[in-house]
Amino acid sequence: MILPKPVSCASIGDAFTLPPDSRILWRVPRGRGVAETRDLAELLAEYLRPATGWTWPVAEVAPGDDPGAGTILLEQTGDPEPDAAGFRPEAYTLETDAGRVRLAAESPDGLARAIQALRQLFPAAIYASAVQPGPWTLPAVRVEDAPRFPWRGLMLDTARHFFSVDTVKRFIELIAQHRMSVFHWHLTDDQGWRLEIKKYPRLTEVGSIRKATIIGRQRDHFRRYDRTPYGGFYTQEEIRDIVAFAARRHVTIVPEVDMPGHMAAAIAAYPELGNGLVRHPEVRTMWGISDNVLNVEASTVQFCQDVWSEVMALFPGKFLHLGGDECPRKEWTESPRAQALMAERGLTEPGQLQAWFTRQMDDFFRAHGRRLIGWHEILDGRVNPSATIMVWWDNQDVPGILRAGHNVVMATNKYLYLDYYQREPKEKEPLAIGGLVTLEQVYGFDPAPADATGAAPGRILGGQGQLWTEYIATPAYLEYMAFPRGCAVAEILWTPREAQAFGDFQRRLQAHVERLRVQQVRGSFD
Ligand code: ACM
Repeated sequence: MILPKPVSCASIGDAFTLPPDSRILWRVPRGRGVAETRDLAELLAEYLRPATGWTWPVAEVAPGDDPGAGTILLEQTGDPEPDAAGFRPEAYTLETDAGRVRLAAESPDGLARAIQALRQLFPAAIYASAVQPGPWTLPAVRVEDAPRFPWRGLMLDTARHFFSVDTVKRFIELIAQHRMSVFHWHLTDDQGWRLEIKKYPRLTEVGSIRKATIIGRQRDHFRRYDRTPYGGFYTQEEIRDIVAFAARRHVTIVPEVDMPGHMAAAIAAYPELGNGLVRHPEVRTMWGISDNVLNVEASTVQFCQDVWSEVMALFPGKFLHLGGDECPRKEWTESPRAQALMAERGLTEPGQLQAWFTRQMDDFFRAHGRRLIGWHEILDGRVNPSATIMVWWDNQDVPGILRAGHNVVMATNKYLYLDYYQREPKEKEPLAIGGLVTLEQVYGFDPAPADATGAAPGRILGGQGQLWTEYIATPAYLEYMAFPRGCAVAEILWTPREAQAFGDFQRRLQAHVERLRVQQVRGSFD
């Protein structure tokens, strides 16, 4: 009943019950990768202790030594280098038989996935936070498994609404449980800057607070606001804590600082970043797209690179998300200074200013050994093929993007926007931004159909579900929108396409929902 469905899972014997003196052992190739695998053994013990109430001692076992009965062995069998895009293999095997368990993988990333699969073999009560009666019986199975794509994730917008450190960690833990690999963290937007930057304190002092929030749905000619300032941001210490939490679970955080559009909060904090056409720049209270965008002076590029220097020091992952979506050209068209910059740089239309800006940032990231990813609008103009493209409209020419040399991550709104309604009638659902993406629609989506990948298999890195939060203001509603559709996102990205079947998924989902309920996940499960 593993979800996402593994490549293979065969029954190999009789179910057995683990004893209270069960132990967790780990083994690595001589001199290699000790810390990661030991930490994973500790993590597994932490996962199993609350519900069993057992101590689960953790120890190393020497090569050749027999771990014995009543043990769970984590065995790292290699030490592979990351591939060109920075991913290590996640293949693993998991065998439960004759009173013992063995998890084996070439890389610690594979062991991390194996641990989550193993938890799902236990009764659902293993996910409880307090002692449960047991017994802790496991089926005897052999699982051989590897994901279809390396990039499997969920995106959370913490700018439109702010979510606490604990909520973010719980979200990451749920990503890990679904054997997903990426948490894309949307940290800044017009309506709030949520990331402490030491060099520019006003980004949070001013930029993290909007003076009011829309009540109900925003309409063109009618808006009602509460009169309550809304704010919140993550200190760098909190960010480091969250990054460590994700790293233990082998989930990579891709931080997004959206620019050069979606920067009204930063411009409110430092008006010199803007085009001078807004008299009193403020943190935006409306949703939707703002014309108020960065100027692209050299000093503004410097500001952005200073910000990213601090972001890079916090987030060790290879990918940095520059945003780049929805950047209107209105101010650049109207501003004499922007026109002068265009002429200076030999550009013929305002849109080229964004491409110019993106190239400055791409060069900067690459000089620091990182990779730029942006929403597909960064393709408007010349952008280096080293940039990875996150496609969010379903009408994009993905084969053409691949031919131009880019890697692609699919975030298609029509299938993967989990902020859209999930069922009809919409009137019976909590207020959402619009659209309709049902569980079955998510499940039916193929992020990399053969005719799209053509000569470039492997360059569609994967995909992710989006949780934009204009209308998602609470952790409970966030979980309602994220699950179970997030379970379907996980499966379409993990399981071989030919092994996917919606009916079978729904049956496994019933068992899986029990695991989520035990953790009080407030999904849309009825
Ligand atoms: C987006 O939804 N603006 C990427």
